[in-house]
Amino acid sequence: MTVERTLSILKPDATRRNLTGKINAKFEEAGLRIVAQKRLHLSEAQAGAFYAVHKERPFYKDLVAFMTSGPVVVQVLEGENAVAKNREIMGATNPANAAPGTIRKEFAESIEANSVHGSDSAENAATEVAFFFSGIEIVG
Ligand code: CMP
Repeated sequence: MTVERTLSILKPDATRRNLTGKINAKFEEAGLRIVAQKRLHLSEAQAGAFYAVHKERPFYKDLVAFMTSGPVVVQVLEGENAVAKNREIMGATNPANAAPGTIRKEFAESIEANSVHGSDSAENAATEVAFFFSGIEIVG
C-alpha cells in the first residue's frame, strides 16, 4: 500500500473540446485525488524543457508545437500506486491501441493529440511534479 503522487497534463486537444471535467471524473471515479491543479498556456521554452527527454525523437518539434497550441491543465494526482493507476486510466499512448473505457480510447484524437500525459515512473513523477508545482501548491 503505497500512496504516491503523479503529474498529469490535460493537453490542448482536451481543453479545446471542453473535456476537463469529463477527464477529471475518470480520475476521481478510479480513486485518484486531484491535490493540485492549474491552467497554463505553455511557452515553447517551457514545453521544450518539459519534454527534453524526447529531444532526439522525430516527433519532438511537432509535440512542442502541439503542446503550445492552446491551454493545458497541469495537475498532481494522489492515491494508491498513482503512477501505474493513472497510466491504466489513460490507456495506451496511441488511442488505436487503448483499452475500452480509458481516457485515450474515449477522447484522444491521435497519438499526438492524445488528451493526457501522465508520468511513467515514480522517479519521473517527482521531477515532473517539481517542474510545475511548489510544495505549498499541493494540498493533500
Ligand atoms: P506523452 O505521454 O505526453 O509523452 C510524449 C508524447 O509524445 C506522447 O504522449 C505523445 O502524445 C507524443 N507522440 C507523438 N508522436 C509519438 C510517437 N510516434 N510515439 C510516442 N509518442 C508520440
